[in-house]
Amino acid sequence: MTYKFLNFEKVESTSDEVRNVILKDSSQDVVVIADMQTRGRGRRGRRWYSPPGNLYFSFSKTPAINPAALGQISLVTGIAVHHVISKLLPSSAQIALKWPNDILVNKMKLGGILIETEQFPGREYATCIIGIGINITSSPEMVAFPPCALRDYINGLPDKDELARNIIDEFNRCYNVWLYDGFEKLRSEWLSLSYGLGKPVSARAENGFEIYGRFLTLSSDGAVVICDDDGNEYLVRSSEITYL
Ligand code: BTN
Repeated sequence: MTYKFLNFEKVESTSDEVRNVILKDSSQDVVVIADMQTRGRGRRGRRWYSPPGNLYFSFSKTPAINPAALGQISLVTGIAVHHVISKLLPSSAQIALKWPNDILVNKMKLGGILIETEQFPGREYATCIIGIGINITSSPEMVAFPPCALRDYINGLPDKDELARNIIDEFNRCYNVWLYDGFEKLRSEWLSLSYGLGKPVSARAENGFEIYGRFLTLSSDGAVVICDDDGNEYLVRSSEITYL
């Protein structure tokens, strides 16, 4: 599918702009790119500081799938971003994905992915608005991880529009694998690109308890599997994992 690209100098959030376009005309799917955001947001209601110089863009997808599987789209997006960004980096820069959707380089956060799902009138399936932020020239402070930017690793900086287009092309390739071949192939790929397999972590499990153990693997549907010292396995779907 080809998207119409809308470029803005300044918006509150590129994800809100995508939402506004769909609300006006539900047949439209667009990519919104902005030079800066005044109310950029990250996961869990955090702010995503969005000064000029970095990449901020959002687009939408409406997969005709079981809503229970929608969370996997975040992992699909992470793989696509990893593929594109890793081509820009020198081999000394270790890029990895932190579940569910942080882009780390040398254990510092280069970017993040925000997936927001909404049922729009006139659409049969829920729409995912996928927002991606990549630090290019500056590294705004972040919670939990020290930040970094592409400028820390490369000399010539990429054209932001081209970078967004490359990520969307790669996303579409991964998305089609996901839709037509299923998540399993991408699951093993995500694991091969991930940060912290086997490391000690803590997280809030589905039963509401804080659990401590090792990051064992991803379940067949994309949840984190944590194994504690007694060999009990827990699934984590909606919280974050913390490396200890
Ligand atoms: C995170 O790591 O918490 C996710 C950050 C996602 C930031 C991007 S920037 C483009 C889009 N617009 C937003 O307001 N947020 C996302």
